[in-house]
Amino acid sequence: MGLVIALNKGRILKECLPLLAACGIEPDEDPGDSRKLIFNTRTGGHRIIVTRSADVPTYVENGVADIGVTGKDTILEYGEAMGFYELLDLGIGKCRMMTAGPVGVAEPPGVLRVASKFVNITRDYYQRQSRQVALIKLSGAMEIAPLLGLADSIVDIVDTGNTLKANGLEARENICEISTRLIVNRASMKTKFDQVQSLVSGLKEVV
Ligand code: PRP
Repeated sequence: MGLVIALNKGRILKECLPLLAACGIEPDEDPGDSRKLIFNTRTGGHRIIVTRSADVPTYVENGVADIGVTGKDTILEYGEAMGFYELLDLGIGKCRMMTAGPVGVAEPPGVLRVASKFVNITRDYYQRQSRQVALIKLSGAMEIAPLLGLADSIVDIVDTGNTLKANGLEARENICEISTRLIVNRASMKTKFDQVQSLVSGLKEVV
């Protein structure tokens, strides 16, 4: 039985398909052009599942996927994982997790209102700073929150900085560096050791 590989929809998918292809793993259709979510591979009897980024660790932790490819942001936000190992930094999807707020506006004293979809990362960060915050959970487009007065700051991913700039925001503190990682289910490490090993060493060569 081949590997089941869970990939993020969106940017990561486009960037990691060529890496998998270089290791001989190619879906039988282009996931970018299809509404399908499960793909067979041309050779090797593997399957590729395409899912929302936040769900990749869930599939791998529960063993329905052997391998997952997703951002470090997603892995950190998922939190303590007993069911998988993070084995490889694929060196793609590089960006930073940052705090940001309106240009030229100082953070108010007292409890800071922070909007993010990364509530666990945000909570951990401000706890380490011993700063009291009120967390506001959003699902995306966090940049709107300070503009409408819902929050003083946001915690979000910054790549080029264009999204912040377009919304009158500026980056403040760098929380951590992000890139795309390969995670492997603990049991699959044993039961499919040779296949996992061959993929990991193939990827190490191409990244
Ligand atoms: C991320 C992030 C920002 C944007 C930053 O969103 O949430 O909105 O990228 O990139 P930039 O600094 O180059 O402008 P993404 O496009 O990944 O979509 P999402 O909102 O679904 O996370």
